[in-house]
Amino acid sequence: MSVIVSPSILSADFSRLEKEIRDVELGGAEWLHLDVMDGVFVPNLTFGPIIVAAIDKLTGLFLDVHLMIIQPRRFIEQFVEAGGDLITFHIEAENDVTETIKLVKDSGAKVGISLNPPTPVDKVVPYLEFIDLVLVMSVNPGFAGQRFLPDVLKKVEFLRNYREWHKLSYLIEIDGGINLETGKLAVAAGVDVLVSASFIFGSKDRRAAIQGLKSLR
Ligand code: DX5
Ligand code: ZN
Repeated sequence: MSVIVSPSILSADFSRLEKEIRDVELGGAEWLHLDVMDGVFVPNLTFGPIIVAAIDKLTGLFLDVHLMIIQPRRFIEQFVEAGGDLITFHIEAENDVTETIKLVKDSGAKVGISLNPPTPVDKVVPYLEFIDLVLVMSVNPGFAGQRFLPDVLKKVEFLRNYREWHKLSYLIEIDGGINLETGKLAVAAGVDVLVSASFIFGSKDRRAAIQGLKSLR
C-alpha cells in the first residue's frame, strides 16, 4: 500500500479554495487535512464546523479534521455533522480521553489522538486498542511552514512496533515540516499518512509533490 497523503489547506489560497481542493484531488490525494485552531490551545485561529461543511460540499475527499482546541468534546458532534470523516483531538487538550473517544465513535466518525512534540508516547498507550489513528506532531502546532523535529521519529518507531506486537490496526500519521526528505525519514520509521501544507501548496506542480510523497513507500 502506498503512503496516504493528506494535504493541509492551511497553506492553500482561501480566496479560491474550490480550485485549490480540485488541484490536490487531481494530484492524487485521498485525504484532506483540516486544521481547526481556537487561539487558546494554539496561538492561531482558523475555522470551525461551518467551513468544514462548506468543504464537504466541494469534495468527496476523506476529511481528516485535526482539532487544536481545548475541551474538544464540546464540538465533536458538530464536526461530524459537518462531514468530518476522521476526528483527531489532542491528548493534552482533554481530561476525559475515554469519553471523547466514545463520543467520536458514537457520532459515526473515525477517531484519532494527537501528541505534541514534548508529550511522551506512553500517554497514548492505554487508548491504542480503541482508536483508528495516532497523529504524531513533528512541529509545535499553530502554523504551517515550520521546521521538522526529527526526535519525534522515535515515537513513530515505538508506535509501529507496539502495533505489531499487539496486533492492532491504528494508522500512524505525522504532521509538520513534511517534504520529500523528512517524509522519507517518517515513512522509514513507520508512518502511514503524511500531512503537508507548505510543501504541497507551495509547489508549482502539486501533482508532482503529492505523487513524490506517495511514492516514499
Ligand atoms: C500545524 C498544523 C499542520 C500544518 C502543517 O499546526 O497542524 O497541519 O498545516 O504545515 P506544514 O506542512 O507547512 O508544516
Ligand atoms: Zn494539522
